Amino acid sequence: MPKISVQGKTVECAIGDNLRQVLLQNNIDLYNGSATVINCHGLGTCGTCAVEIQGNVSPIGWREKARLSLPPHGAGTTRRLACQVQVMGDLQVTKFDGFWGQGNQPV
Ligand code: FES
Repeated sequence: MPKISVQGKTVECAIGDNLRQVLLQNNIDLYNGSATVINCHGLGTCGTCAVEIQGNVSPIGWREKARLSLPPHGAGTTRRLACQVQVMGDLQVTKFDGFWGQGNQPV
């Protein structure tokens, strides 16, 4: 069972679980401010579920790559979209500030 460290908590899930769903089911603040209600609910189009991830996850797909190439993210970003990520091992996940989680201050 992979362990995910995030916002001072450690949660567990199964290999292959969707990171967005795991975080929401464990009451982790994946979205900032009004993005809590204004988001694409996992379609990979809004970009508000962006997080920094250390650990083993599924490779980036075309949909995620396309959204992350657009502002306020950008081609050089190291963020991932939680809704497009499958957990493949233990992770350290960091959410940053800003509507899209594009900032530099961890929240
Ligand atoms: S929830 Fe919209 S891109 Fe992930």
